[in-house]
Amino acid sequence: MKYTSLRSCWTLLALGASVLSPMAFGQEVYRDTTKSLEVRVNDLLGKLTLEEKVGLIHASSKFSTAGVPRLHIPPLWMSDGPHGVREEIGPDTWNPAGRTDDFSTAVPVGINLAATWDPEMGKLSGTTIGQEALVRNKNIMLGPGVNIMRTPLNGRNFEYLGEDPFLAGQMAVGFIEGEQSQGIAACVKHFAANNQETQRNSINVEMDDRTLHEIYLPAFKAAVKQGNVLSVMGAYNRFRGVYCCENPFLLNTLLKGEWGFKGLVMSDWGGAHSTEGSVRGGLDLEMGTNGPYEKNYLANPFIEGLKSGIYPMSLLDEKVSRVLRVLIATHAVDTKPTGSINTRQHQMNARKVAEEGIVLLKNDHDILPIDDSKVHSIAVIGRVATQKVAYGGQSSGIKAFYEVPILEGLLNRFGSKVTVSYSPGYPEIKRPRKGTQKPSVSDSDKALIDQAVKSARQSEIAIVVVGLNHNYDTESSDRPDMKLPAGQDELVSRVLAANPKTIVVLSSGSPVEMGRWLYRVPALVECWYGGMEAGNAVARVLAGDVNPSGKLPCTFPQKLEDTPTAAFNSYPGENGTETYLEGLLVGYRWYDAKKIQPLFPFGFGLSYTKFDYSGISVVQDTLPSQVVLQVANSGPKDGEEVVQVYVHPLNPSVPRPPQELKAFKKIMLSSGEKKSVALNLPANALAYYEPSRKCWVIEKGTYEILVGSSSRDIRLRQTVTIGSTMLVQD
Ligand code: BGC
Repeated sequence: MKYTSLRSCWTLLALGASVLSPMAFGQEVYRDTTKSLEVRVNDLLGKLTLEEKVGLIHASSKFSTAGVPRLHIPPLWMSDGPHGVREEIGPDTWNPAGRTDDFSTAVPVGINLAATWDPEMGKLSGTTIGQEALVRNKNIMLGPGVNIMRTPLNGRNFEYLGEDPFLAGQMAVGFIEGEQSQGIAACVKHFAANNQETQRNSINVEMDDRTLHEIYLPAFKAAVKQGNVLSVMGAYNRFRGVYCCENPFLLNTLLKGEWGFKGLVMSDWGGAHSTEGSVRGGLDLEMGTNGPYEKNYLANPFIEGLKSGIYPMSLLDEKVSRVLRVLIATHAVDTKPTGSINTRQHQMNARKVAEEGIVLLKNDHDILPIDDSKVHSIAVIGRVATQKVAYGGQSSGIKAFYEVPILEGLLNRFGSKVTVSYSPGYPEIKRPRKGTQKPSVSDSDKALIDQAVKSARQSEIAIVVVGLNHNYDTESSDRPDMKLPAGQDELVSRVLAANPKTIVVLSSGSPVEMGRWLYRVPALVECWYGGMEAGNAVARVLAGDVNPSGKLPCTFPQKLEDTPTAAFNSYPGENGTETYLEGLLVGYRWYDAKKIQPLFPFGFGLSYTKFDYSGISVVQDTLPSQVVLQVANSGPKDGEEVVQVYVHPLNPSVPRPPQELKAFKKIMLSSGEKKSVALNLPANALAYYEPSRKCWVIEKGTYEILVGSSSRDIRLRQTVTIGSTMLVQD
């Protein structure tokens, strides 16, 4: 018998045409929540026909599987993504469904979340999205994205969690725990080495084993082993010649084998390429392959292979079991928790995350915060101040319930006491094309600048809002360069000349060059894309209602030529292959090793108060396990500090990055308060990956444990010695 789509049957049942009442299934073991997940999965697996099983492992619409109508098993519903529950589309196109009930809370983007350096903020974002996903009847939310920022040009850097594997992993774990606490499955993506959008569907990535294990896998591994993530999305690209969604080394050997992953692996949309590769390569759920769905690689062609004996039934059962685990874990066959959507609490959660991730990069002579009892006029300049961006960037975009742009936030906060004027300052930031960035500004652009300069001159303070938007920071394409487009550099320079009390607010999802004017600007704030409450969050930081505590999750290099991929010419690949020649030296590891001064280093961020560090001690048995120190707030305001611990091997026998982040903690201190802070070190904190032995090795020798306020502001150090070389579990 040929398999046909079960979606129409399911629709009939959903409309009330069922032949058997759901009550009749109430006594089944798979519905019994007192039984273990495995018992329930095996029970249900035993009740399914071959066709029903296959219906569970490939798409039946853009974002769902078929379900099993006969047993009242609903389809598995997925939705993007990392920043909220996406609008409804399709069912079989990417066009919006045109509904009015699919507005949702837009939380800040991934890079903003990472800049909080607080896994609790991950939990808050994840919990918020999870509660909304329940109302929208989803099982799996397609996030978080944890691909490492290898080059500032990757169009999707804004969605991801920065350049450091440990930071990205810990932030992802918080997010996953929050989302999954609501009975919604998270989906960590895109596994693996999906670090650019240029040729994303085909590029073949090559790198050495140490780089893979030390830089590109740890965030995924943390999501699996620490976060117990229920699903993983394979990447579009190829790794060592094989598509990631069909890659037995990545999916079978590492993920399901070594890491013990029990959930399901789905393809990125259109990321499966063959029946043979998908079946044997470790894919469990094929999504996004063009229809008709019954012709998908894991549909009729798989059935034929099973029936003719090419594939053993055990391969099918393994995939189905993984899908069933997720279905059952997300309450598809019992009572779902009640969710909530677009609540004031969710909006306040979004604002909290945005505020915690805003990074104060410069504040000469304490020009910030702005005291609204002393300032009478503010000129807000720059079109980015009026942009709404939550819907952009493609799959991670959100149809936000509302969105407060920066200008609106500033008016909300200062408008009643201060005269706030606005001028656009530069033209619309349009989609870039390589090599077409205008070197100089046109006459009409000059008129915009002149108008802005005039208003800056007439006001006590100028706030220039510059940056990018999702024409630049976007899925499907990379940025052409690292510059601010639309003549914004020229604008900042001119406004500065007119009014030295100029505060620059930068809104971007990735680093930009600012060398032309930065040295003359007294204050600079990076606010990323802060979700629906972005404007209010920015205003509250500028006003001092919130003391900034974000830290950079990525280095801001001075210029593109300073980046490791530029030095090695190892991006965006040649003849379809990209070799990661820079190896381990990604992000701060590179700038530290090569002694290149960045514009702003990894981990950097100022506060309106001051923190003093003292009294380091390292708890060590065989291995150092904990770092203890004191931090005092010696400044005038309450505030939060992110204490960062880096490890610096003094005499390694193999090449090691000069320092690597191994622990961090965000702490709150009232003005005048002093606290003891204890940070746990992971077992492999001193280790490197040894490819020949396929394990992590801690070499005997001396290591410095560095404690600082950023990667380039080390305040305390303590040496530890390891007497003999040992292997450690990771
Ligand atoms: C993206 C994924 C996304 C999927 C579904 C793909 O193009 O790479 O991140 O989840 O589409 O929208």
